[in-house]
Amino acid sequence: MVSEEEVRAGLERAGQAHLLRFWAELAPAGRASLLADLAPLDPDELGEHCRRAAAARAREQAPLEQADSRMRPVQPEVLGGVRRSDPQSLRRWEQEGFHQIAQNKVAVLLLAGGQGTRLGVTYPKGMYRVGLPSGKTLYELQAERIRRVEQMAGHKHNTQCTVPWYIMTSEFTLKPTVEFFKENNFFKLDPANVIMFEQRMLPAVDFNGQAILERKDKVAMAPDGNGGLYRALVNNEILEDMERRGVEYVHVYCVDNILVKMADPVFIGFCVMKGADCGAKVVEKAYPTEPVGVVCQVDGIYQVVEYSEVSLETAQRQDESGNLVFNAGNICNHFFTRNFLQTITREFEPLLKSHVAIKKVPFVDEDGNLVKPLKPNGIKMEKFVFDVFQFSKNFVAFEVLREEEFSPLKNADTASKDSPTTARQALLAQHYRWALRAGACFVDENGVRIPEQPSTLGTENPPVLCEISPLVSYFGEGLEVYLKDKEICSPFILDENKAKLLEKA
Ligand code: UTP
Repeated sequence: MVSEEEVRAGLERAGQAHLLRFWAELAPAGRASLLADLAPLDPDELGEHCRRAAAARAREQAPLEQADSRMRPVQPEVLGGVRRSDPQSLRRWEQEGFHQIAQNKVAVLLLAGGQGTRLGVTYPKGMYRVGLPSGKTLYELQAERIRRVEQMAGHKHNTQCTVPWYIMTSEFTLKPTVEFFKENNFFKLDPANVIMFEQRMLPAVDFNGQAILERKDKVAMAPDGNGGLYRALVNNEILEDMERRGVEYVHVYCVDNILVKMADPVFIGFCVMKGADCGAKVVEKAYPTEPVGVVCQVDGIYQVVEYSEVSLETAQRQDESGNLVFNAGNICNHFFTRNFLQTITREFEPLLKSHVAIKKVPFVDEDGNLVKPLKPNGIKMEKFVFDVFQFSKNFVAFEVLREEEFSPLKNADTASKDSPTTARQALLAQHYRWALRAGACFVDENGVRIPEQPSTLGTENPPVLCEISPLVSYFGEGLEVYLKDKEICSPFILDENKAKLLEKA
C-alpha cells in the first residue's frame, strides 16, 4: 500500500498537489478511496498528461489546418461493396469468410467502454432496450448474432466452431456488464468465449492543466477513448489469448450500432482475400455536411478525416456522375489481422494522436462545494480506434448500405437522430423488408391485407411490426421456409419457437 507521503511527493513533482487539498478533512474511508485513485498514477506521466491536455486544448483554439488539398478518395482497387462488387465476388468472399469462421480464426471485439453521456443512462449502453417487441437489449441482439453466425459456418463446413467475443469495458461499464451477462446466463454463449477486459482511465484536466477533483475524495477520471483499445490489449494480454485460440482476424465494432453485422463473412472474406491487414466498412454519406469522419487518403496515406477538418467546398465536391467525391463515411466497423494489432501495440501505439474532448466535468471548488458547471470546463484526452489506419501496409474499404448495417444509438429520444426511436425503426424496417422478400403477406387483426411498402428504409415506421430473432436469421437468409405465402398478423415476432411452428404449418 502506497503511503500518503509518497503520493504527496509524487503529486508535488507533477504539479498536482492540489488533489490532496481536502486531505485533512477526510474520514479514513475517503482517504483510502482517494489514495486508491492516486496510487496507480505515475507522477511523471500524470504531469505530462496534464501539460499535454492544456497545450492540446490551446492548439484546438487555433483555426484548423484543413487537409483538403492533400486528400484523395479511397482508390477503386481497394474498395469493394455490396452494390459496387459483382455477385460472384460477393459470394466468393462470403464463402471465404465462413471458411475462416469455421476454422475458429475469426473473433469479434466490442468497444463498450464509453460513458454514453448523450444517451444519458446510468448503465452501459449495451444493456439498453430500444423498445423492440421482444424487449431485447443491444447485448442480447449481438450475442444472438454471434450464435447464429457460428451455427451457419459450422453447418456449411460440418464442424463446431466458436467466434470468441472480446468486450472492452471501462471502470464505468465493467461491473454492470459482467453482472448483466451472468444474470442472463451469457445469452447461452459459453462464458469461456466471452472475454471482458478493462481499458485505462485518465484524469480529466482543467484549462490550466490541473487535474480535476470531482469530490473531495475523488479524482475526475474518464476512459481514454476507443483507441485506448491498443493499450488495453497489452495490459490484459488479449493478443496472447487470441493467439492461444488460433484467432487470426478480428472484427472490431461499436456497442451502439443496432444493425451491426458481427463477424460479417462477406467483409471478413473480402479483407482476407485482398490480403488486407486493416479494413473499414463505410457507408455513403447521407449529405455532404453530415458530421461523420470520411475514410480517404491524405498525402497517400489512408486515414479518417473528421468533418470539421474539411472545407464545405471539398465536402460538396462531386465526380462526373454526380456522386460525392469524399463519400466513404466511417462507421466504426473494422477488420484487423492479429499480426497488425501486434505491430500496433509493439511499435505504434505511443505515436497515436490524443484528441481533445472538451466536456462539462463536475468539480469541487476551493471551498469544497460541489459544482455542476453550465459551460464546458474540462479536457478529456481520447485516442481513436481508427487512427491506426495510417500504419496499414494494405488497407481496404468495403461499402455497405446504411439501411442494412448502420443505425447508431447516440442520443436520447429528445433528439431527432440516432435515438432509441430511430434505432428501433431501422431494425423493424429491415425485418419488414426481409419478410416481404421472403414472400410474407401481412394482415391486420381482422385478416385484412396490409398494403406493402417494400421501400421502407428505416427513416419511418414500417406499416407492420415484425421482428425476427437473429437466431432464426442473421441477415435475412433462410426465411422463405417460414414465411413464403403465409398470412402473417402484425405484431409478429419470429423467434425459434415460432419458426418451428411455421415450418410445420
Ligand atoms: P462514442 O464516441 O459515441 O461515445 O463511442 P459514447 O461514450 O458511447 O457516448 P457519449 O459520447 O458519451 O455520448 C463510440 C464507441 O466507442 C466506445 C463506446 O462504448 C462506443 O461503442 N468507447 C468510447 C470506448 O469503448 N471507450 C471510450 O473511452 C470511448
